[in-house]
Amino acid sequence: MPTRGYDPRTLLFFLPGNTTIKNPLPLFLTVAPMPDLDPRLKTSLGPLELKNPFLLASGPPTASGGQIRRAFHMGWAGAVTKTIVPDTMEIADVSPRFAAWNDTGSGLLGFENIELLSKNNVAYWMREIAAIRSEYPDRVLVASIMASPDIHEWQELAVMVQEAGADAVELNVSCPHGMPERGIGAFMGQDPGMVSDVTRAVREVVKIPLIVKLTPNVTDIVPVARAAVEGGADILAAINTVQCLMGIDLENFEPLPAVAGSSAYGGYSGPAVKPIGLRVVSQIASSLQVPVMGIGGISCWQDAAEYIAAGASAVQVCTAVMWNGAGIIRAMNDGLSAYIAQKKMSGIPDLRGRALLRIGTHAALRRDTPLVATLLYPRRCTSCGRCVVACRDGGYQAISLVEGNVVIDPERCDGCSLCSLVCAEQVIALQPRR
Ligand SMILES: Cc1cc2nc3c(=O)[nH]c(=O)nc-3n(C[C@H](O)[C@H](O)[C@H](O)COP(=O)(O)O)c2cc1C
Repeated sequence: MPTRGYDPRTLLFFLPGNTTIKNPLPLFLTVAPMPDLDPRLKTSLGPLELKNPFLLASGPPTASGGQIRRAFHMGWAGAVTKTIVPDTMEIADVSPRFAAWNDTGSGLLGFENIELLSKNNVAYWMREIAAIRSEYPDRVLVASIMASPDIHEWQELAVMVQEAGADAVELNVSCPHGMPERGIGAFMGQDPGMVSDVTRAVREVVKIPLIVKLTPNVTDIVPVARAAVEGGADILAAINTVQCLMGIDLENFEPLPAVAGSSAYGGYSGPAVKPIGLRVVSQIASSLQVPVMGIGGISCWQDAAEYIAAGASAVQVCTAVMWNGAGIIRAMNDGLSAYIAQKKMSGIPDLRGRALLRIGTHAALRRDTPLVATLLYPRRCTSCGRCVVACRDGGYQAISLVEGNVVIDPERCDGCSLCSLVCAEQVIALQPRR
């Protein structure tokens, strides 16, 4: 089975040897087409049929028709356009607008953006949606929209993208920066009443499937998700970015990303937000009977499989494509397909929600299966002492170094697992307490 992550060299797989990378779009014709896919990767989202569970999320990778075509050619089953807004809404981006928590060992951990919505006008998107729809009839093209607090503007835009041929419309009530100051984006998505109003209004005027993209920046996602479903949403998508402040430059106290020395709270994405996305998706899937698209920190097939096991029917990816390119779809399709085969599952629906029944209240967790830290591979232990220090200062003082060897006192050990997590050599594991 393929392993986690990518060899950066394979990311250039699609470029001929002598290529100079200036504008990637003309490379479109050099991209090898999508290979035949394992039929077990098929999935559905209510009425929408997908060849595999992977869609490009709304964002820079879907900012133009050319990028969407290129991604479809590589094997993405669907794409959600960068959020389209009425031409009357001013979209003026700042520079820079990204900041990254980029660990040299592990790669990208977290990503902040203060980017706004599509800078292409409505006429551009009408043309592109119609064209892509006819060029790629077997893919799912979703139009993401946002408009002013005037609900009629949402209705007008939704009707336009439907007429252009979009397979579904996604309501962006979840962008956490820039838009909330204008009374839209996450400002609406944090209020169940506003979510149901805008969903109901759009439902009244369009026939195509209606997706509502939710913000994680709420105390409890379930009332907001329920409001969307009651308003007429066919599908929910979660999560949009998590409101954040990436960092402060300690030389000059400029917050990051610094735009002429100042910043604004932004949206956090990438691997660091996956635990939040998984939590939100599983909460929706255990509370409501509605197909869910999982989003947040997905960068490899394992992440997608986890979202599906947590109740998602399909997933969307943004930051990983910005970081590694749309070509990651091949490893994601191959890896997921191999996993399903290895697990002898019939397909995506068979995997969907497998973990859900195992997530419950804390009170219901068993207390009669205590574990104890055990030095499983003493020969591989380097006696670095990290477990000793962690257990001494953050645990139960159960580990010591005796003549250079790690010794665990099972009587003192409380089975918390800290030592096994800090161990660089992975030689400590928790075992049933005898
Ligand atoms: C630079 C950037 C721009 C984004 N723009 C949009 C947008 O226009 N509309 C939208 O609904 N979500 C937008 N998103 C949010 C993504 O679609 C996605 O929900 C979020 O980034 C989490 O997924 P990820 O970890 O795969 O990036 C944007 C994200 C990033 C990083």
